[in-house]
Amino acid sequence: MRVGILTGGGDCPGLNAVIRAVVRKGMRDGHNVVGFQNGWAGVMEGHSTELTHENTSGILHRGGTILGTSRTNPFKVDGGSAKVKASLEAAGIDALIPIGGEDTLGVAGRLWKEEGVPVVGVPKTIDNDLDKTDFTFGFQTAVQIATDAIDRLHTTAESHNRVMVVEVMGRHAGWIALYSGMAGGADAVLVPERPFDVEDVCDRIRRRHESGRTFSIVVVAEGAVKAGEDAPSGGGAVDEFGHARLGGIGVDLEHDVEERTSFESRVTILGHVQRGGTPTAYDRVLATRFGVAAIDAVNAGSFGTMVALQATAIRQVPLEEALREPKLLDTALFETAEVFFG
Ligand code: F6P
Repeated sequence: MRVGILTGGGDCPGLNAVIRAVVRKGMRDGHNVVGFQNGWAGVMEGHSTELTHENTSGILHRGGTILGTSRTNPFKVDGGSAKVKASLEAAGIDALIPIGGEDTLGVAGRLWKEEGVPVVGVPKTIDNDLDKTDFTFGFQTAVQIATDAIDRLHTTAESHNRVMVVEVMGRHAGWIALYSGMAGGADAVLVPERPFDVEDVCDRIRRRHESGRTFSIVVVAEGAVKAGEDAPSGGGAVDEFGHARLGGIGVDLEHDVEERTSFESRVTILGHVQRGGTPTAYDRVLATRFGVAAIDAVNAGSFGTMVALQATAIRQVPLEEALREPKLLDTALFETAEVFFG
């Protein structure tokens, strides 16, 4: 078979590990693997390269994606889905493996359902908000980067008696904020799932100071909202999937905390540092398992599915089920984290 592969949406540590695994396992099983460039844009434009053992070696540990990525949505382009079909036919593609989050896989799900394009999705996002998989690859790396940053901010916070606000990624779900906040010993973690009251946050910080602590660490997800306020609009600009560009809640919070408590505050926005660079060993292994399992699914003709980690096993789940709702924070986990808040 000729198997196509693409990476779409925001990049994520471990994408290259999936590409390498698909190529190695695919070739072993007698397939040819074709890489489309820049996500769905490359499929529509017919931009592709033959992937081989040689041109995919040495990439396991590298961040980013050798194929490039984009947030192009074929369903927002006139005749886009027809272009995808025609291009796949022209390239002789028998099966397509899109690696992406809710948007890229949402397109894959529609192409399967509406056009019969044979797809097997691989779940990718540092946000870890895709349902039916316990983890997406890239998440653990982002958490490690955020935790390292919090560790560093601790020592400077202590030295200056400051409140450090750390803004991390997480559009719909606060997984990165919660995991890095727990690992880094944060005094408050603010997440999209739980609109927060600024005065509550300030009270916690005041209580810590009254009990002799002279500094505090607040971790806030970029998608967190103040109670009673609308979700951030990102200045009105949205991408082809309707998502606003987030970032900046931490700046507001730094200002609010300093004004209300008179404790000197500083914000650090981690931004794309969380997505760049080398994947952790865990993410390399998970990405490799996903890549191999995607070829197994192709071999079995299990199209319209996504490979997923459930407990310790890799399974195939219908794309439709995985995409129905985002996977939001586990309440019990948040309650465990709360035990340690200021
Ligand atoms: O979806 C993953 C993500 O990292 C979000 O957490 C974030 O809001 C978004 O991508 C940022 O994407 P961009 O690369 O377009 O700035």
